[in-house]
Amino acid sequence: MSGIDTDCITLTRYVLAEQKKHPQATGDLTQLLTALLTAVKAVSSAVRKAGIASLYGISGTANTSGDEQKKLDVIANDLFINMLKSSFSTCLLVSEENDNVIQVETEKQSDGLTFVSDKGKYIVCFDPLDGSSNIDCLVSIGSIFGIYRKTTEGPPTVKDALQPGRNTVAAGYALYGSATMVVLSVGNGVQGFMLDPAIGEFILTEKNIKIKPRGKIYSLNEGYEQYWDEATKEYVKSKKFPESGKPYGGRYIGSMVADVHRTLMYGGIFMYPATTQSPKGKLRLLYECNPMAYVMEQAGGKASTGTSPILDLQPTEIHQRSPIFLGSKEDVEDVEAVYKKHAK
Ligand code: AHG
Ligand code: MN
Ligand code: MN
Repeated sequence: MSGIDTDCITLTRYVLAEQKKHPQATGDLTQLLTALLTAVKAVSSAVRKAGIASLYGISGTANTSGDEQKKLDVIANDLFINMLKSSFSTCLLVSEENDNVIQVETEKQSDGLTFVSDKGKYIVCFDPLDGSSNIDCLVSIGSIFGIYRKTTEGPPTVKDALQPGRNTVAAGYALYGSATMVVLSVGNGVQGFMLDPAIGEFILTEKNIKIKPRGKIYSLNEGYEQYWDEATKEYVKSKKFPESGKPYGGRYIGSMVADVHRTLMYGGIFMYPATTQSPKGKLRLLYECNPMAYVMEQAGGKASTGTSPILDLQPTEIHQRSPIFLGSKEDVEDVEAVYKKHAK
């Protein structure tokens, strides 16, 4: 017997099978996800510095053509936008890197082919490269995405992108870690797909991921303690100096995707609370908090602002921020209990 699995479930096969459960489905979501995965594969390759020799020349550090090299986050953004626009499934995009929503044009000809159309029914919010402070030191980074359906008639406007996370059709992230993995939910649990570089396909390796109800790890930037509110201070202290038992371990990578993925796999809690410097926290609701909150809830965990579920927030601006506490159900409930006490 050879060790080769001749019937592995690729991400595309998984999404197709999910689609077939809904006879009215058109296949547009499958098409959208396929385009998105092309972007993820290209980002993964760029993150791993493939083709470095042609960029730097064999001995020097200069770009052989003399061009200024594009930064990785710009490359990632261009890839996501170009692949999604030409997937014939989107009408509106929101990217962390663009001040305004990106309207998909009606028609664009290139090499005699029509490439884009605004008739797609989906809206995609994404952070093309998350963890930018970690790019230059080769620590894990990622991409995050949330997909919504357009619910209004007429041309798409910014209002179509301002939907609560509860309306999510599909969401997930790509982690460019020691391997590249896509974690995805289409509303039916959470699946993890590892990129097999030998065949360029994402293979289902983590089926129906569930987060532990309680973990042993807390994760936040502790350097900002003096800026936290009293509830966050009290909660973190209770993990470091418990009345009984061992203290929680602390882990903080500083790339949300990597910190959230560890939280999902090992249990525990990830936090980016409000601070006096950023009273709404740092992380963005549409393309950081909501997709991660959706994945967590689908895995049996929770995601909260401290006082209400992230997914219930009604966005008013595309780049708005929210404080976030997410992870194991009981750990997030502990935070909410401390907030409740402090609100009295
Ligand atoms: P981005 O690189 O997309 O701007 O996001 C960075 C975010 C997130 O990945 C991480 O959780 C957080 O910034 C870290 O912030 P601090 O450096 O303030 O801890
Ligand atoms: Mn980010
Ligand atoms: Mn980013």
